[in-house]
Amino acid sequence: MIAELFRALCHLNPTLKKFLWKRWYEFQVDYYPKTDWSFMNYGYAPLDANQAELPLLPEDEPNRYSIQLYHYVATLLGMVPSLTGLQVLEVGSGRGGGCEYIKRNLNPHSIKGVDFSLRAVALCNLNFSSSGLIFIPGDAESLPFVDNSFDVVINVESSHCYRSFEAFVEQVKRVLKKGGHFICADLRRADELGILQDRMRHSGMHLITEVDITANVVKALSLDHDRKLAHIRKSTPRLMANPIKEYAGLKGSKIYNRLRTREIMYLCFMLEKN
Ligand SMILES: C[S@@+](CC[C@H](N)C(=O)[O-])C[C@H]1O[C@@H](n2cnc3c(N)ncnc32)[C@H](O)[C@@H]1O
Repeated sequence: MIAELFRALCHLNPTLKKFLWKRWYEFQVDYYPKTDWSFMNYGYAPLDANQAELPLLPEDEPNRYSIQLYHYVATLLGMVPSLTGLQVLEVGSGRGGGCEYIKRNLNPHSIKGVDFSLRAVALCNLNFSSSGLIFIPGDAESLPFVDNSFDVVINVESSHCYRSFEAFVEQVKRVLKKGGHFICADLRRADELGILQDRMRHSGMHLITEVDITANVVKALSLDHDRKLAHIRKSTPRLMANPIKEYAGLKGSKIYNRLRTREIMYLCFMLEKN
């Protein structure tokens, strides 16, 4: 009920949508400031059961599916050779787990995470900042960086919150170096997908690839259901449990069912600034 009301309000007006998402993410940090929750995406699981598992440290195992989404995005189909030595920006870095994973495993020269939730940024700097990894407050639609600063811009499950996707893409184009890559993974209602695809195709950057990963995300949500449910039971008062289950995409939630029936789809795009 609360989740449905939230969705309905978001569809009323783009400025209201942005305001509500910001309040929601600020609330989450106030409500749950602990460090054992560092990813907020729905995850990714390979569909081929024979595909080798991404090797992870034991301490990363609880976040396997969210990490796999980052790993997939950051090494998309092998088309970006690797992030070695590159200057990377993540827009919408959330609780910082993605930037931290990339810094530790994919060898960029540096990675900056930017997020409009001041509380999330403070939490990330407290938990994760290290040499070559820093979190900065900022709005995706007005990025606080000079032109031509980054080799790669990554954006995971964040763009659906923005007031103007076009303004965001203009900013990405501005801060990317020539030849730099923009990789964006996010979900949209199937009837809004055409708008997103159109914006990507007419972004002024070269669209290298577009991949539908809806089935991978549904599989990840199924496989991660028990872990998430146990965490919610342990840490959430009853009143909040249903909206949180919905937000987390547990099996049986509306978001899970809509992804399963493809009323909502999850896509990944890679573009190059030429
Ligand atoms: C679903 S979370 C994903 C976080 C992270 N990418 C992950 O996968 O764990 C969406 C994030 O986008 C951020 N966000 C939403 N709108 C934003 C905006 N206009 N500018 C910057 N960050 C924004 C939110 O604060 C939130 O941290």
